[in-house]
Amino acid sequence: MLDRLDHVGIAVEDLDGALSFYERTFKITAAHRELLADHQIEVALLDLGGSHVELLQPLRAGSAVGRFLEKHGPGLHHVAYRVEDIVATLTELSEAGVELVDPVPRRGVRDTKIAFLHPRSVGGVLTEIVEYGDDH
Ligand code: CO
Repeated sequence: MLDRLDHVGIAVEDLDGALSFYERTFKITAAHRELLADHQIEVALLDLGGSHVELLQPLRAGSAVGRFLEKHGPGLHHVAYRVEDIVATLTELSEAGVELVDPVPRRGVRDTKIAFLHPRSVGGVLTEIVEYGDDH
């Protein structure tokens, strides 16, 4: 059902600062940067082989990632797996009793379709599933 680990999401307070840290320390530069108004975040992707690190900075304090930062501080936010067919996967997971944050997929970064699963249902881990379009 899950094809592979797609990315890990890391919440940061300062995207520019985080990017220069990764560049300076780990010699990785952002492959992509995007403002996702729907999610109230700005995202930078650091490509590493077939998967990537997704740095997330909230656009405002009351957003989901903003509240996460307030509560936990910067750090690991979610884990994302790639799937072939997100709608079919969501149906299957729902039938298996997994609680869906997004019963209907939303648009994610780089024109992907994404949906989150509630950490309550996934051993305390906020989990995202991702479907790529044909051009990936
Ligand atoms: Co993500």
